[in-house]
Amino acid sequence: MNMKLWKGCFKQNLNKFVEQFTESITVDRRLYKEDIEGSIAHVTMLHSCGLVKEEEKEIIIKTLKEIEVDIEQNRIELKTELEDIHMNIESELIKRIGDTGRKLHTGRSRNDQIVTDLRLYTRKHIDFIIELLLTIMKHLANLSEKHAKTIMPGFTHFQIAQPISLGHYLLAYACMFQRDINRLIDCRKRVNINPLGSAALAGTTHHINRYLTAKLLHFDEPSENCLDSISDRDFVIEFISTCCLIVMHLSRISEEFIIFMNPQFNFLSLPESFLTGSSIMPQKKNPDVLELIRGKTGRIYANLINILTTMKCQTLAYNRDLQEDKLPLFDTVDNIVMCLVAFGKLIEKSIFNEQEMYETAIKGFSISTDVADYLVKKGVPFRTSHEIVGSMIKYCKEKHKTFSDLTLTELKTFHNFISDDIIDILCIENSLKFKNHVGGTSPDQVKISVQSFRLYIQKI
Ligand code: ARG
Repeated sequence: MNMKLWKGCFKQNLNKFVEQFTESITVDRRLYKEDIEGSIAHVTMLHSCGLVKEEEKEIIIKTLKEIEVDIEQNRIELKTELEDIHMNIESELIKRIGDTGRKLHTGRSRNDQIVTDLRLYTRKHIDFIIELLLTIMKHLANLSEKHAKTIMPGFTHFQIAQPISLGHYLLAYACMFQRDINRLIDCRKRVNINPLGSAALAGTTHHINRYLTAKLLHFDEPSENCLDSISDRDFVIEFISTCCLIVMHLSRISEEFIIFMNPQFNFLSLPESFLTGSSIMPQKKNPDVLELIRGKTGRIYANLINILTTMKCQTLAYNRDLQEDKLPLFDTVDNIVMCLVAFGKLIEKSIFNEQEMYETAIKGFSISTDVADYLVKKGVPFRTSHEIVGSMIKYCKEKHKTFSDLTLTELKTFHNFISDDIIDILCIENSLKFKNHVGGTSPDQVKISVQSFRLYIQKI
């Protein structure tokens, strides 16, 4: 039997292979809630515009809600013959209430229906992703407060550069995640536009009220141009590209944590419940969670290229190519959510080895720039002081010493401007403390920063 709701002008049934090739129900079934929400708003509007009767609206809404529960509880078999989620739900509605159900699609097309569903879906997940990012920011703020005074070596070229506060390091990532949240909030404004009522491409001859469906679906306003709103997937691209930045940030911190966990660094330990073993090497404890976050980055970037390419040559307005927008969108949502949940759990349980980080900073001569600056403040030109400190390092390495092992007499041999006030400079804690300006690594600045992040989190 030909079940197609569009079969009217066809003499032949759809080829079975073509049916399989063109179906999207296996992918878009997850949109059932949004589809029903959109249909309820649509029929409410049809009734308010006098296009369906009160009792018709009531029975349609009641039945749609029952269908929603039945899909949720797997009591409806969603059929590939019915192509997609929209046709499956509408057919089920018609099966249950007959001709009244056939009125739902008045003044609507699947073209505006699908993009409405997608906008609702994207909006919901933007809000969820923001929540997950905020949780990570909260953990970062707590850890940074705890470690405002903890010293670690900062790196450039991945070589020890200058000592920094561990709190300062962690807040660098909080800054990135804050920008990601701000990007999502901005993207949400462009997502939150109502395409419903655009119908197939040009609008409809029925006297509909697109402001009402916008209000019912909590969209900010109806879209400006029906042709545009049917064919536009910029919002999906913008959302995925924002997710690319999020996962890129997650990947960077994961990479650093993997290195910091390596016994040769020993800066960080994770609970065993977050590590995995090897099937052959009994000693192994591997950071697979972090590696997978790093690994999934490629996949999310690929989704961006996927959707960009899908959109590239499409003429206005709807083409079936658009059905391919769902896979990259859903895959991005699934994976970014998993990565954020995983990282949120992991950061909460991370334990930093303060002693090891401290010793590495000392051994790595990380205060060399401070010593050079000390000489500059005494009147030595910077290039000269750079060279003098270089020779101090050479000397220390030969004698297997650190700066703080040098006696005052030894120190004075490097320049006659060096006096006992150098002791203050050689104290690594002071290297942090003296960088006490906005954005600097001093524990006081870290604490100020923690407060401003907390305020931001609270306000959102
Ligand atoms: N399954 C389709 C999609 O995901 C729904 C829209 C179908 N519209 C059409 N004119 N064939 O894009």
